[in-house]
Amino acid sequence: MLKFSKLAAAAAFVAVAAAAMAGEVEVLHYWTSGGEAKSVDELKTMMAGRGYTWKDFAVTGGGGENAMGMLKKRVLAGNPPAAALIKGPTIQEWANLNVLTNLDTMAQFGKWDESLPKVIAEQMKYQGHYVAVPVNVHRVNWLWANSAVLKKAGVTALPKTYEEFFAAADKLRAAGFIPLAHGGQDWQDFTVFESVALGVGGTAFYNKALVRLDEAALAGSEMRKTLEVFRRLKPYTDDKSAGRDWNQATALVTAGKAGFQLMGDWAKGEFLAANQEPGKDFTCTPAPGTAHAYSFNVDSFAMFQLKNGDARKAQGYLAFLLMGQNFQERFNLRKGSIPARLNMNLDKFDECARLSGQDFAAMSKTGALVPSVAHGMAVPPAVQSALRAAVSDFWNNDKTTVNETLARLALAAGAPVK
Ligand code: GAL
Repeated sequence: MLKFSKLAAAAAFVAVAAAAMAGEVEVLHYWTSGGEAKSVDELKTMMAGRGYTWKDFAVTGGGGENAMGMLKKRVLAGNPPAAALIKGPTIQEWANLNVLTNLDTMAQFGKWDESLPKVIAEQMKYQGHYVAVPVNVHRVNWLWANSAVLKKAGVTALPKTYEEFFAAADKLRAAGFIPLAHGGQDWQDFTVFESVALGVGGTAFYNKALVRLDEAALAGSEMRKTLEVFRRLKPYTDDKSAGRDWNQATALVTAGKAGFQLMGDWAKGEFLAANQEPGKDFTCTPAPGTAHAYSFNVDSFAMFQLKNGDARKAQGYLAFLLMGQNFQERFNLRKGSIPARLNMNLDKFDECARLSGQDFAAMSKTGALVPSVAHGMAVPPAVQSALRAAVSDFWNNDKTTVNETLARLALAAGAPVK
């Protein structure tokens, strides 16, 4: 009876909230590149379509580090936004501070448990209660390529191994192109590094070292090989890569100046925003050695406790909308990712998204689905920062040795959680 009345209340809430045509929703995110802005516009339009006022709290900086800093300030000042793009274990940290809203009633009404893969639903819950809403699944282990550039350089097949990659990169360099577009920021360095770790060491190694933080694996022979391959990539990047934003690196590929980029499929949002077609102008292929692995990165919005009643209504409607099939289709068609919801029809999506969808489903059964460390899916933020610092120092400073880095990685595993 109680359950029924709660669900009826949620249904009435959605209807009333939709009809009330009031309330402002302030949303913190870091989707400021061309493709990202187009994706978030879908959300703004859908909220505005119901009469809600969208207050954009966009903080530039790929990967979201700046945004998380701004969020801390606002919450500490007792003035949180209605929703913020927060992911993975960081959701738990915020929930632990008792500042997030319980979304269980909405989740029951919308049947979220049945609509989401378990691995995603679990990340959205704190002590069994929903506090966040997932909007997509990004695959991180992709290699993007400009088809015309590869052709001009005489690269006839997409590299499946690092040896093939280096052979192709040599051809690209000889033909005057930047072989590997890179933005030298620590989260981008780590994005490349974790794809290399997955490709060189495989999923069992990746999980042992980077997810379970086994010290022997962090300092062992597979990690040594990973670092060696990672270091070999550096000379194939250009000397202006330091500090470059990820979308500027993608722009080098879309503009035909660079051949490849190792990046998650938000990069596809940039190719699409530049009116390029997958399979024709550009290609997506799993990063070398990772055709049978999938590192996932789920974007989600955590909802904060609010004092104002109208703002709470707008927030409730936002939660409802974010999980809707219509929004998840429209948003992900632009974002480069696939819907977080299960059983969605991907007919309107391109071949990269369809491959991602098939692989996500297949690999959740084989255990080859791994959480992205670079994108905050696997380890607490303090450990993530320590690992990232070790990897970026190694990338940026040729004098830093493999041995020193192995020792630093093993130490990072013990970084204090708070
Ligand atoms: C990821 C995020 C993506 C994309 C990317 C670049 O961490 O999940 O949605 O925005 O950073 O900022």
